[in-house]
Amino acid sequence: MLTIDQLSDLKGKRVLVRVDFNVPLKDGEIRDDNRIVQAAPTIKMLISHGARVILLSHLGKIKHKEAPEVVEAQKKKNSLRPVAARLGEILRVPVAFCPDTTGEKAKFFMGVVEPGEVVLMENTRYEKGEEKNDPELAKKWAENIDIFVMDAFGSAHRAHASTYGVPEILKAQGKPVAIGYLVEKEVRNLTRCVEVKDGDRPYIAILGGFKVSDKIKVIDSLLKKCDKILIGGAMAYTFAKALGRTIGKSPCEDDQLEYAKKCFEEANGRILLPLDSIATDAFEGWTQKIVTDDANIPGEMEGMDIGPKTAALFQQEISKAKMVFWNGPMGVFEQKDFAGGTIAVCQAIAKLKSAFTVCGGGDSAAAVKEFGFSDAFSHVSTGGGASLEMIENDGHLPGIDILK
Ligand code: 3PG
Repeated sequence: MLTIDQLSDLKGKRVLVRVDFNVPLKDGEIRDDNRIVQAAPTIKMLISHGARVILLSHLGKIKHKEAPEVVEAQKKKNSLRPVAARLGEILRVPVAFCPDTTGEKAKFFMGVVEPGEVVLMENTRYEKGEEKNDPELAKKWAENIDIFVMDAFGSAHRAHASTYGVPEILKAQGKPVAIGYLVEKEVRNLTRCVEVKDGDRPYIAILGGFKVSDKIKVIDSLLKKCDKILIGGAMAYTFAKALGRTIGKSPCEDDQLEYAKKCFEEANGRILLPLDSIATDAFEGWTQKIVTDDANIPGEMEGMDIGPKTAALFQQEISKAKMVFWNGPMGVFEQKDFAGGTIAVCQAIAKLKSAFTVCGGGDSAAAVKEFGFSDAFSHVSTGGGASLEMIENDGHLPGIDILK
């Protein structure tokens, strides 16, 4: 796979860079610009070598099957315009913004970009064909492009027109397709969690989050690679019920009980579940909060976080690790009463002196940032779904494999 440092003669070349600027927006304001900051080194390198840089990204979801006025509202809400302004501040160069993704205006914007200049095109998902990997759409984006650079790690699990169709066309035309610095770093770090070396053992995975069904493939894959998997978060209640414990009103996927039981038994002691929980009488507007004595949650209560015995157990396991992969919070960390389990995991990881530690993006990355532990990790991924799929598929992602 080519990296951008291996691209020779960038001067004057039209370089199409797929970035992931799918950032959280509220009323047009960017709540977290990490993905923009992380993509900046690649863009800076390209402009400093005199490339004409054209950026493509998606933002949010646009449901084209909805009524036209709904689609219009979704488009308005998910415009990349505020991102262009922020990117300009980060790069300290003006960033042109093209309000279309295809058509005459788009052609014009893509055509007039001068060497060392940057244009950000509007949200790729404005186009119906993006998520269907429509070859006609990919052809439009690939027109007059000299080089494709993939730097959207967070979108590399999507075989869409901008992540897959475009490099496929350019490759067939014999043009260079390469990975940017962000993707290079992500692939290097996550590959280490997939191709495990003896020196990286004990290898501990920590999984949390809402649904077991979202994590089945990753659990199966991690069981083949890890020494232990610590499970917290809402998904732990499905495991608890499968093992005959009472879980009160806690969320549970009944159609996953059989899987959870089988998986736990086959793991032969390598899956550790909560020993206790913090539970409340309601999810919202709760008035009563208890710490359970054991893994059972009484009838009218709902689990909100792992309890102190579990936090201590998980901390003790983490303290022995040489490598850690973590995805998914341990509780409802957005509320401070239920952030303790997630913070306990962060603290244990922060204490490790010579271990390789990866936070797999998504909600756990948000928690790591909120609680001030970003620097304590060897790597915090910018991709939630992508990092999980990379683990599930033994290092393979369509948006990366197409570049090989
Ligand atoms: C993400 O935020 O995980 C990526 O940008 C992919 O977004 P998507 O799930 O909407 O495809």
